[in-house]
Amino acid sequence: MRYPIIIHPDDKLRKPCEPITVVTDELVQLLDDMYETMIAHDGIGIAAPQIGKNIQVAVIEIEEGDRFELINPVILEAKGAEVDVEGCLSIPHVYGTVERADEVTVRYFDREGEEMEVQAFGYLARAFQHEIDHLQGQLFTDKMIKKIPEDELETYMEEHAND
Ligand code: CO
Repeated sequence: MRYPIIIHPDDKLRKPCEPITVVTDELVQLLDDMYETMIAHDGIGIAAPQIGKNIQVAVIEIEEGDRFELINPVILEAKGAEVDVEGCLSIPHVYGTVERADEVTVRYFDREGEEMEVQAFGYLARAFQHEIDHLQGQLFTDKMIKKIPEDELETYMEEHAND
């Protein structure tokens, strides 16, 4: 089932989310529904508050087939800094640069309730940080350095492809 996306500004996007205490069938279904909703909107990440759920759950898929389903994710370690462009399903047509760590180690629980640890680099590391921010009620625009007009996005990407 696809959920409607909550669009900024909305109080639902601004509340710190509650941790999950037990992985239920309902939660597993929610992970499937969040993925379906994300793909339907051409997204690469989605956090539970974006579908109106105040829980620490997010889904990321940067590379097709490489899906991360994050329950109670925590950044254990962050290294380096990189500036790149972000967007958000909850803030349509807004893009801008944000400084993020370019390497993060994240601990989370998967849909089996197993504790996982992953080390991510580059844009995947960025996606982890963006989604974990959502779970704390933060949006990328809170940290945006420079807004990139939508019609200049392609040019910006080409110019900074090798950064
Ligand atoms: Co977002």
